[in-house]
Amino acid sequence: MSNRFAVILAAGQGTRMKSKLYKVLHQVCGKPMVQHIVDQVGTLPFEDIVTIVGHGSDQVQTQLGDATQYAVQTEQLGTGHAVQQAAPILAAKEGTTVVLCGDTPLVTAETIDQLLTYHEREEAAATVLTTFQDDPTGYGRIVRQDNGRVARIVEEKDAHASDKKITEINTGIYCFDNQKLFHSLQEVNNDNVQGEYYLPDVIEILCQRHEKVSGYSGGSAQETIGINDRVALAKAERLMQKRINEAHMRAGVTLINPDDTYISTDAKIGYDTVIYPGTVIKGKVTIGDDCEMGPNSEIMDSDIGNGTVIKQSVVSKSTVGDHVNIGPFAHIRPQSTLSNDVKVGNFVEVKKSTIGDSSKASHLSYVGDAEIGREVNLGCGSITVNYDGQNKHLTKVGDGAFVGCNVNLVAPVTVGKGAFVAAGSTITDDVNEHDLAIARSRQSNKEGYATKLNQKKQ
Ligand code: UD1
Ligand code: MG
Repeated sequence: MSNRFAVILAAGQGTRMKSKLYKVLHQVCGKPMVQHIVDQVGTLPFEDIVTIVGHGSDQVQTQLGDATQYAVQTEQLGTGHAVQQAAPILAAKEGTTVVLCGDTPLVTAETIDQLLTYHEREEAAATVLTTFQDDPTGYGRIVRQDNGRVARIVEEKDAHASDKKITEINTGIYCFDNQKLFHSLQEVNNDNVQGEYYLPDVIEILCQRHEKVSGYSGGSAQETIGINDRVALAKAERLMQKRINEAHMRAGVTLINPDDTYISTDAKIGYDTVIYPGTVIKGKVTIGDDCEMGPNSEIMDSDIGNGTVIKQSVVSKSTVGDHVNIGPFAHIRPQSTLSNDVKVGNFVEVKKSTIGDSSKASHLSYVGDAEIGREVNLGCGSITVNYDGQNKHLTKVGDGAFVGCNVNLVAPVTVGKGAFVAAGSTITDDVNEHDLAIARSRQSNKEGYATKLNQKKQ
């Protein structure tokens, strides 16, 4: 195996997306397109990975970090010109270079590896990854020689009617002998309809030099679609989602309706977990075994234990233990930790709080900036009054405490272990362990007064 290098083209604006966001940063299943490519390439042994950046250079570099090197293309003069920007890093090196586009997010490492193996076995100067598209509109068409080798690639805009009938297309993914690539690029001109320096022109240049140019039609047509507009973006999303969902199902997760379940590429889900329709799992999420998610739950960047149920609820940037019951209609906001066997019922919001083992907030509560111990009962409508208009304050409730219905805990305040807070209390002072606190005005009954009132009305 010779040295291997990868060049990823990501400098274009993406005019056809009609977007403020640079094309390669548009997301597919919650991850920018170019990140998908870099992640796949990153699993293979490349000596150098160089991403060509231009439009949105800062954002693209922030996204990809040090997973790749960068070459800047200040003016977007075409894909050939883009590759040339990698010359200072690569041109002097010997080996094989794979070129990929940042807008083909579905391509797998497996296909890239097969292309490399084919190219090296063929001892070709260049190998184009091709596929057959039922509707090849928009793609470069592969023109073959009589001996079956690739002669040239014709761009849609430069194609004659007869070329347009060709259904074998250029995926925009190629392998090159590195030195031959950079030599040929110097000969590419911009004499075409778009006035651009086309990378595909290298193919014709190599053919004219009697170099061997191969076409490898290994990848699936779906895997190599190029995303130039939002219609293609939606298609990529569907295809990627299908791939992710099928992988989870094969790994022991039940999806009741895979067509209506959205799982990010970075989610890990355990055996025998059941996911009901309308559920969206975003970002880095781990879910344990035997859980029930949904229907209609949204889980973002969170860790969920085993045997936990989350129905019609939102959980974001939080940690949830084993056998926890959330929802229906609960909202667990960032920086919350729910320990094992906790119950957070309907219309309960939890924010930046910890709730200890077996504690319950079953109905209509707000728990914000709070440390709730084990086996605590937060009665219906009990709330932490955490905000004084300027600052947030902490509420602590000790193990085994019982907070009655409709209690306001005005923070900063502590309710000690085993204490009891009577329903309807507004607690402004700490309650010591095992004490009873009542903080409400006394009821007085006026004998027969209701009857008097009724008589007055008549
Ligand atoms: C390109 C190919 C076409 C192929 C298709 C596959 C060319 C001329 N055409 O067309 O044969 O069928 O991909 O999807 O190569 N880019 C730069 N700098 C530039 C121009 C583009 O970095 O100056 C990057 C873009 O960000 C993009 C990639 O190169 O990631 C491809 O460019 P795009 O404009 O999408 O080319 P296509 O029209 O799709
Ligand atoms: Mg494209």
